[in-house]
Amino acid sequence: MGTIILGIESSCDDTSAAVIRDRELLSNVVASQDVHVKYGGVVPELASRAHQQNIVPVVDRALKLAGVARNQIDAVAFTRGPGLLGSLLVGTSFTKGFSAALDIPMIEVNHLQAHILVHFIQSQDGAGRVPEFPFLCLLVSGGHTQLVVVKDHYEMEIIGRSIDDAAGEAFDKCAKLLGLPYPGGPHLDKLASEGDPGKFTFNKPRLQGFDYSFSGLKTSFLYFLRDQLKENTDFIEQNKADLAASLQLTIVDILMNKLRRAAANRGISQIALAGGVSANSGLRSALVLEADKRNWDIFIPPLSFTTDNAAMIAITGYYRHLKGEFASEDVAPMAKMYF
Ligand code: KG4
Ligand code: ZN
Repeated sequence: MGTIILGIESSCDDTSAAVIRDRELLSNVVASQDVHVKYGGVVPELASRAHQQNIVPVVDRALKLAGVARNQIDAVAFTRGPGLLGSLLVGTSFTKGFSAALDIPMIEVNHLQAHILVHFIQSQDGAGRVPEFPFLCLLVSGGHTQLVVVKDHYEMEIIGRSIDDAAGEAFDKCAKLLGLPYPGGPHLDKLASEGDPGKFTFNKPRLQGFDYSFSGLKTSFLYFLRDQLKENTDFIEQNKADLAASLQLTIVDILMNKLRRAAANRGISQIALAGGVSANSGLRSALVLEADKRNWDIFIPPLSFTTDNAAMIAITGYYRHLKGEFASEDVAPMAKMYF
């Protein structure tokens, strides 16, 4: 039989629903919101409205694809935070109505922990390794960059974080300077594959410990472009791929440098990636190379589990359900949320 959990994700600009039976994923539907592209970034008010339009059809589709009837669902898990408050409210309110109507418990999920727990989703064929505890996870998303020691499915310790911009923000903001559409990360990644990563160099931060900083890189990229454009107005167009490749290499180097030091400091060789930026091809290959050198056992999520999705909410909900950790009826979303 197994425990069936419906997962709901609405923290930013993706409306998603997924169904899981124990650790086995039965469906994962994601509706992305194109409305933000013309504004060059997520407009919170428009995101909330789009979630409101999408949530019922997305849940319906996830249940149909899973072949699960409403009365078979044991609990509904939802993202409580962190994220955009108006977006989170849509998922939270939907969850409350759904759970009241079916008389099933609600489970609140921290979006960041959920990104990490994708590594425990079982694929349809039942294959796939899972990391052993404790493992070290580099969590890189649009809003967060963290080095996390994962002690078990519930206890996680953040040992490093960005003190300013997240890695995803650095990708997106620099991509915007190159004239790429929003979100720029994936576009920059594609462009980088055609360029020379050694063509330009940009300043890297010198920060003690395991913390990151990306705002200086963004500024140095901006000033570099501004100076070059004074000499040659076509500089960006003529060097676009090389600029993308060089910038990507710089960001990947910064990320890998602290990851390497944190792994050595904690004596951990089980290393995982998570979050939207873990889709980056440069970061994925850098981890494979490093693993070869250092004998790391690495875990890289499938592309569909890198950016926001409800499968990660459902798997986290499964583990909380095992412990009977349910949310109360007056639960409210939180824009900032720690673990
Ligand atoms: O985890 P996520 O979907 O949302 C947040 O929780 O923030 O991450 C979105 C971020 C965006 O900044 C996006 O540009 C970045 O992930 N991203 C990438 C790639 N794919 C997504 N960045 C670099 N290379 C990629 N291939
Ligand atoms: Zn995310």
